[in-house]
Amino acid sequence: MDKLIITGPSQLKGKIRVSSSKNSSLPIMVATLLSENIVTINNLPKLRDVSTMLKLLKNLGAEIEEKDDGKVVFNTCKLNSYEANYEMVKTMRASFLVIGPLLARYGKASVSLPGGCAIGARSIDIHLDGLAKLGAEIDLRGGYVHASAKKLKGAEILLSFPSVGATENLMMCASLAEGTTVIKNAAREPEIIDLANFINKMGGHVYGAGTSDITIEGVKSIRTEVDYIDYNVIPDRIEASTYIIAGIITNSHIVVENVITKHMDAIFDVLKNMGANFKIISPEKNINNAHANENDIVEIFPRVEGVELKGIHVDTAPYPGFPTDVQAQLMALALSANSPSVITEHIFENRFMHVPELNRMGANILLKGNSAFIEGNTKLTAAPVMCTDLRASAALILAALVAECETEICRVYHLDRGYEFIDRKLTNLNVLVKRVPGGPF
Ligand code: UD1
Repeated sequence: MDKLIITGPSQLKGKIRVSSSKNSSLPIMVATLLSENIVTINNLPKLRDVSTMLKLLKNLGAEIEEKDDGKVVFNTCKLNSYEANYEMVKTMRASFLVIGPLLARYGKASVSLPGGCAIGARSIDIHLDGLAKLGAEIDLRGGYVHASAKKLKGAEILLSFPSVGATENLMMCASLAEGTTVIKNAAREPEIIDLANFINKMGGHVYGAGTSDITIEGVKSIRTEVDYIDYNVIPDRIEASTYIIAGIITNSHIVVENVITKHMDAIFDVLKNMGANFKIISPEKNINNAHANENDIVEIFPRVEGVELKGIHVDTAPYPGFPTDVQAQLMALALSANSPSVITEHIFENRFMHVPELNRMGANILLKGNSAFIEGNTKLTAAPVMCTDLRASAALILAALVAECETEICRVYHLDRGYEFIDRKLTNLNVLVKRVPGGPF
């Protein structure tokens, strides 16, 4: 398993471009299972999770062509399997999303119970309750969910929690159910809107994505008269946040391009309250911008002399609240504030696996229930540390940027799941980073 070795403290400079959203790309790739047309996705990020999903779709019989220019063409007109096996699903929870579209298109699906990041129970009851409301019979046997339906019928489905995955699964499944489905208490994340836009572009009818009530008018088949369907996935707001925090934590001047800043209001509010110095440049203000459809740019500046970062109290929440996927990175930043912080995690149990690792680097973070009490003014020192899940790993990278000497970060495959070209992007930002092929651990 590869290691990253980062020599700190780093002074960042330069610009980087944010990649396409992992959390949009995965459900969008799954949604190609609904289509009776050939579909091209223009900008999938080169990530381990994307490769895993490509493999899963190929196993189901999808014909997939990865072009030299980065476009990926999906032909799911003829599939030959309705089963997503344990080997596939255990490495990535998002694999479970195939159950909705497979069931809708072929009347049956067998999908292994999911694995993925080791961050709590992450059950699938909300997915299964919703599929049952649409008329599916669900049978749990041998570690698999076997779902079948002679006919799926639209229904009103009230989610007990606005689960992102369940909202996506049900939106896809209901797109081919007879009649109208209303998902109440739906997740409102930008990735949900992206998926709805994609389904609609393929010929589906999803309305209200981005609000708590999503209406889906079922259709007999998802197809369009247009020969060529292509789609651009939105930029990754979590990757953007991570690099923006990298600029702030190192008190550097950097530019982060390709950001949809309106997806990140809660994050910018917290960073502003902490005293971070940054500017958002929208395309019309950005006169150097040659691209018509360009997104925003975020420029991070060193703090004005004498201004220090302040501690914060933050609670994670479903969108539009502060995202759980930036909790670990924010905690790394809070270590350099001039006063204590409290961060409370409300989405996942056990999403504090970065805490013992940060403490090994000299942090003083105390966990009580689902809250972390973080002492500020911490001088971090390098230590060998281990990635445990995707976002925990991002926090370790941020800590390594400010720690003296060489921090050795093991098990970087977690990072490779969600951060495209991370070593190259850090190098471009003037970070001394090298990847060392590791042994089995
Ligand atoms: C997605 C994101 C992940 C993000 C999370 C919350 C992808 C690929 N992953 O994960 O990065 O951290 O949203 O923003 O998009 N739950 C249940 N029963 C269910 C479903 C969920 O109890 O049937 C619970 C989970 O255990 C968890 C919480 O609900 O505690 C949130 O889960 P969910 O919103 O479904 O997250 P994911 O879709 O897995």
